[in-house]
Amino acid sequence: MSASKTFYIETFGCQMNAHDSEKVVGTLERQGYAQVVDEADAGLILYNTCSIRDKAEQKVFHRLNEYKKLQGEGKKFGVLGCVAQQEGEAIFDRAPYVSLVAGSASYRKLPEMLARLEAGETRITGLDDRQTDETFETEFTARTNPHRGYITIIEGCDKFCAYCVVPYTRGKERSRTSDSVIEEARRMADSGFTEVQFLGQNVNSYRDPSGKKSFAELLVAVGELPGMRRVRFTTSHPRDFTRDIVEAIDATPTLCDHVHLPVQSGSSQVLSLMAREYTREQYLERISWIKAARREISMTTDIIVGFPGETDADFEQTVTLLGEVGYDAVFAFQYSPRPNTPSLVMPDSTPPQMKSERLQILMDRQREIQRVSYGRHLGEVMEVMVEGYNPQRGQVTGRSSQNKTVNFTTGSLIQPAKGNYLPVRITQTFPNSLVGEAVNGGANAAASAIPCIQNEVEAAFIG
Ligand code: 5AD
Ligand code: SF4
Repeated sequence: MSASKTFYIETFGCQMNAHDSEKVVGTLERQGYAQVVDEADAGLILYNTCSIRDKAEQKVFHRLNEYKKLQGEGKKFGVLGCVAQQEGEAIFDRAPYVSLVAGSASYRKLPEMLARLEAGETRITGLDDRQTDETFETEFTARTNPHRGYITIIEGCDKFCAYCVVPYTRGKERSRTSDSVIEEARRMADSGFTEVQFLGQNVNSYRDPSGKKSFAELLVAVGELPGMRRVRFTTSHPRDFTRDIVEAIDATPTLCDHVHLPVQSGSSQVLSLMAREYTREQYLERISWIKAARREISMTTDIIVGFPGETDADFEQTVTLLGEVGYDAVFAFQYSPRPNTPSLVMPDSTPPQMKSERLQILMDRQREIQRVSYGRHLGEVMEVMVEGYNPQRGQVTGRSSQNKTVNFTTGSLIQPAKGNYLPVRITQTFPNSLVGEAVNGGANAAASAIPCIQNEVEAAFIG
């Protein structure tokens, strides 16, 4: 293997990016490249970037600057993802040692771009910018976890929320056919996966190009595949979230009892400025459907604090919404002005100090809510999928169907293998995690003599 046929990839951002990287890795391997874990050993250094907030973007340029010192060694550099799409050829000016700049909507052309790179071209771009109707499908996805994996069902976004870069960086909305999604899930189940997570910026606007299945029907079809034990999906958009999704969860035990439904603000006034296309009342109506389900469905959300024009009274409405809904997790962000977005030019008189105070108030309130909501699990027995082992604490780590972290002991020196499902009795609760003991010491799990040491790091939620 020649050194130039080795690559290193580093990924920032959301689950969508994490999964894109799995597809990029699979594509490169198919082209004869071998992945290395140290950038010093790589002929090609790829950087899959995020531009959702300014901080994420700053990280990219900081890291690119660090790569500069490697440029004398004949290495090639490529920038992928949202910053690539957003900044385009300007990246070549800012970092002249970069030879490839490609947004996610152009990854299906990667083999061709790689060939040009190998031929010595230096300013290769893949910038589709809302032109393409095609999705990036490959059967060579190099999934990093052999038990649970992502499946992209829809790419891009047509919503154009006032603050968001995604419609500009990930192109227009395009769904895969239900047959191809089901086939991918079936292949995964056949090779030992028991959990899949559907991915999309807005999975609820999924439209089967073959007209065969609605989003809820697709969830059920995958949930009913032999061997499938858990099906998740993210991210939902309140405007497109329909009641049949709740009915599907109720009727299909393999569909996880968790919905991530980003609200962004509790004030209808701010929601209108954000162009979210729903009011507080309409959002709460969807929450009432979820709460009326027979299964207890966990709810989580994203919130932006300090959007231009947000008053104290608007913010107060977001705080009261937390109590009304009772979320199990809130991902709260201070508003970050982004290039090209409509909110960039909206008047904003709230001082940054006040915005960070609001963020703190929100997080403190939410912590109290979670202390109570997590507390309700005390004594409950829940099924946990084993994800790893924490040797410092002597605890196995895993996740419940509601996506809650559960740390537990088994009473045995031999740890259960990753991917096992065990019943765990909850003995202690925290605002962000649960602690318990495996029922019967986890005796019904196929034990592995090798302790699982590594715990996976979960990427941030997507928009
Ligand atoms: N500023 C702050 N937060 C943002 N998000 C998206 N765009 C911005 C922005 N410009 C948040 C939203 C979204 C999550 C992934 O990131 O809450 O749901
Ligand atoms: Fe970041 Fe959004 Fe792009 Fe994901 S889709 S990488 S969160 S900007």
